[in-house]
Amino acid sequence: MSPELVVIPPPQTVAGAAVVGLPRAIRLAIAQYGSCNLVLAGGTTPRAAYAGLVDQAVDWSKVHAWFGDERCVPADDAASNFKMASDALLSRVAIPAAQVHRIRGELPAQDAAAEYGALLVGVRLDIVLLGVGDDGHTASLFPGSPELESEALVVPTESPFAPTQRVSLTLRALNSARFVVVLASGLSKAPAVADVFAERAAGRPMLPAARVQPTHGELTWIVDPPAAALLPSPDQAAE
Ligand code: 6PG
Repeated sequence: MSPELVVIPPPQTVAGAAVVGLPRAIRLAIAQYGSCNLVLAGGTTPRAAYAGLVDQAVDWSKVHAWFGDERCVPADDAASNFKMASDALLSRVAIPAAQVHRIRGELPAQDAAAEYGALLVGVRLDIVLLGVGDDGHTASLFPGSPELESEALVVPTESPFAPTQRVSLTLRALNSARFVVVLASGLSKAPAVADVFAERAAGRPMLPAARVQPTHGELTWIVDPPAAALLPSPDQAAE
């Protein structure tokens, strides 16, 4: 099933579009299940969306925040995804602290992954927010890494970019979600976005971001025109 691709025309932004869609999906999960398990991503594009979520009409008392990945650094380190999401969103909304489930990056990656994987067993992932790297990585799943084939829910990974020690949800975990939203903004993302959609169109998804496809859920890519610059035009795609 091909993902929905939303190309956001300026002056709107990718973050702005996410701020419109996410609260709706959160409210839907709360209406259906009484709670919402929301998986947050690291990165500058997701961070911009978090800031916009602060003023949205969401019953945060019914939201559980999880993390798609984490760097193996202390929680107060500038490189921590938990710190970024806390500063941008979680410390600014009324989400109970007990409902913020961070990956303990201060532990050795193997231990943090095992601990978080045990926490995630049986958890219904309603919404997963992801970014995509210039190399086609997503969460902390990098091209060619053996962890792409893991049947675990959470794995330790090695990043080519510092901080190198990471913990990441696996494709099995990410693809169990009901809604997955991938955000891509800027010209540096254009090759990865084009490669992802070409691999998917050819039925040979190889890049980590190309292999994100919820088993029983919906996938939406929200990109801006620079990030979409290398995608085939509709008539080229029709050829
Ligand atoms: C991380 C993120 C990573 C990020 C992408 C996009 O821990 O770095 O989880 O997957 O989402 O690299 O980041 P930008 O939006 O900053 O390009």
